[in-house]
Amino acid sequence: MFPVKRRSDTDKEHMSFQKIVEEIMSTHHSLLRRELPKISELIKALTTENAESKSITEAQQIFEKVRAKVEAHLRDEESVLFPTGVALETGGEAVPTEMNLLERVAEMEKEHDGCGNALAGVYQTIIDDASASELKEKLLATIEIVQEDFVSHVEKEDTKVHPMLVSLLAAR
Ligand SMILES: [Fe+2]
Ligand SMILES: [Fe+2]
Repeated sequence: MFPVKRRSDTDKEHMSFQKIVEEIMSTHHSLLRRELPKISELIKALTTENAESKSITEAQQIFEKVRAKVEAHLRDEESVLFPTGVALETGGEAVPTEMNLLERVAEMEKEHDGCGNALAGVYQTIIDDASASELKEKLLATIEIVQEDFVSHVEKEDTKVHPMLVSLLAAR
């Protein structure tokens, strides 16, 4: 499906790689950078509220690992993968990197699944094992915001950004 044509798009029939990744960074990446620290705070408070629960403490530890993984993932996208695709598309200077880009793209998709599943596990543990409270509800609602946004974020990257990047890399 083609987006609505704007004056600035008249030279292109499809959304460019650059436009897609800019939109991803300004919406989905910024949402993660805003919401993940909030979840860290809330889940920390929840472990205090459920001090006797081993599984809640474990869920907190898992969440912090997922957060670190996601933040490293965003850094690789923003500092290497996206700028490389933009450079290849526009004929600009490629970003120097030691990274095997094709391998990293495949790994990115595994990380999407891995992080999504781990977060779903954390969410379920909180539902099952945390005692009822306002804090619990607030934490679950914040995780839901992230999960919902993550679906369209991942869908755009797996079905548009990665195939475009792979063909740009192949055409080098
Ligand atoms: Fe991303
Ligand atoms: Fe990604």
